Amino acid sequence: MITQTDPFSSDAAFDALFPIYIHELSPLHFTALHVAQIASAFLAPDENARVIDIGAGIGKFCIAGSHFTKGHFTGIEQRQHFVRIGNKVIKRLGLDRVELLHCNFTDFNLQGYTGIYFYNSFHENLVFSDVLDKKEEFSTELYELYTAHFLKQLNAMHIGTRLATYWLDMTEIPGSYQLVETHFGDKLKLWMKVG
Ligand SMILES: C[S@@+](CC[C@H](N)C(=O)[O-])C[C@H]1O[C@@H](n2cnc3c(N)ncnc32)[C@H](O)[C@@H]1O
Repeated sequence: MITQTDPFSSDAAFDALFPIYIHELSPLHFTALHVAQIASAFLAPDENARVIDIGAGIGKFCIAGSHFTKGHFTGIEQRQHFVRIGNKVIKRLGLDRVELLHCNFTDFNLQGYTGIYFYNSFHENLVFSDVLDKKEEFSTELYELYTAHFLKQLNAMHIGTRLATYWLDMTEIPGSYQLVETHFGDKLKLWMKVG
């Protein structure tokens, strides 16, 4: 009898869904399952939740979020090969509340989403040793461009919008968002738009 490992039982089991080179990137660049479980429960309290992951990578947070909650998860990602392999896994698992889109965040509008996940995605423009690969262009100008777009979009969201940030400095979030919880030594911050 062939027994199949539950891909959500551990990070190693999840990574095993992907090609080997992803396993090496995963610990540093993609959200661990225990973090995704807490962040997604906050962002998607019910089936009406529509959550966006800005810089979704291979879709680990979105896929895990759709497993742990009843919400709908969309990931946007600039690296086309990540979108391709992530969507292949989504199809293989038969998941219907998760999708990955290939686009740059500067071309994307967050209106209509009720929850936002952000794992410090623009950081690779500041610390070049942390880049995922050498295929993209990196610069402090791009960091500033992406961050300005992020702040403008955050300010335009409805009151009640939920935001989860991971490994992000608190100073980058507008004062209209109230910090409601922190986890993992402040690395995961959960926010609510109140004004
Ligand atoms: C730290 S990884 C996080 C992946 C995913 N959110 C997770 O938690 O598993 C950041 C991702 O953001 C993507 N990214 C960075 N800047 C982006 C931009 N301007 N538009 C779209 N994706 C971007 C990178 O290509 C990378 O895959």
